[in-house]
Amino acid sequence: MTNEITDHYSFGGLRTRIENGLAMLDGDPTVEMLGPVDEFHVGGRPATAHFVEQLDLDAGSHVLDIGSGLGGTARFMAASAGVTVTGVDLTEEYVQVATWLTKLVGLSNSVQFIHASAAELPVPEQAFDAASMVHVGMNIPDKAAVFTDIGRQLTPGGVFGIYDLMVTGEAQPDYPVPWAATATTSFLETPAQYVAHLGSAGFRSVQVIDRTPAALAVFDQLASATSNGPPALGLHLVMGPDTATKFANLVTAVRSGAIAPTEIIARR
Ligand SMILES: C[S@@+](CC[C@H](N)C(=O)[O-])C[C@H]1O[C@@H](n2cnc3c(N)ncnc32)[C@H](O)[C@@H]1O
Repeated sequence: MTNEITDHYSFGGLRTRIENGLAMLDGDPTVEMLGPVDEFHVGGRPATAHFVEQLDLDAGSHVLDIGSGLGGTARFMAASAGVTVTGVDLTEEYVQVATWLTKLVGLSNSVQFIHASAAELPVPEQAFDAASMVHVGMNIPDKAAVFTDIGRQLTPGGVFGIYDLMVTGEAQPDYPVPWAATATTSFLETPAQYVAHLGSAGFRSVQVIDRTPAALAVFDQLASATSNGPPALGLHLVMGPDTATKFANLVTAVRSGAIAPTEIIARR
């Protein structure tokens, strides 16, 4: 199943596509400039900013970002909150591109990436003050086990923030969607199921925030912004030829209420 997940996300040439996109823009790359391509989740950079605010990070703290993708969330946290971040991701090409982009914007001293699975975290116990996981749980079948492992990496009182796409009931999306080609690698659960897994993993003070209204506003903005064709940097460079179908299936599922983009903030 690991290969099915990484084959969905990675098909080679991502760095070249981003280099070509950057060449069409003026100025040296910045964390801000990369936002349209390196935030692989509903709502992009503004959604990340809202999520990071909920984490209430202290400057100088160390954050573990699970499923860090191209590293957009990790770099934003480092740049905006003054934290150091270790990102972990299953997809090797993403780890390579994340490392390259981080060097490009001068953040290599505070942000690093490791190629590994959330199911087997190669990091020392109690080494992190906070953990984040953005749009990754949809690919994780045994969330209780992964949350238990994340709990072990946190210092007592540490915060764990999740921003995932969650189902609201029995209805499922049509496939493909941005996180899976078929239902085989999609493990959608309800907010209540996430909260139960967090409880069994020893987390408390759980806050659940439905981000559907923000997502719907972003979908409307995107529809008008892309009417003249795709931008130089965008998620079409990451998602590949069937981006439009994946995105349309996602939008339909969120608009119908079958899927809710949801933040959950928990503490040890
Ligand atoms: C939709 S992308 C989100 C990336 C990033 N968090 C973001 O918001 O930009 C999902 C990411 O989760 C990673 N992933 C999926 N299953 C994983 C696992 N078991 N362990 C670590 N990473 C995983 C994928 O490789 C991919 O980079």
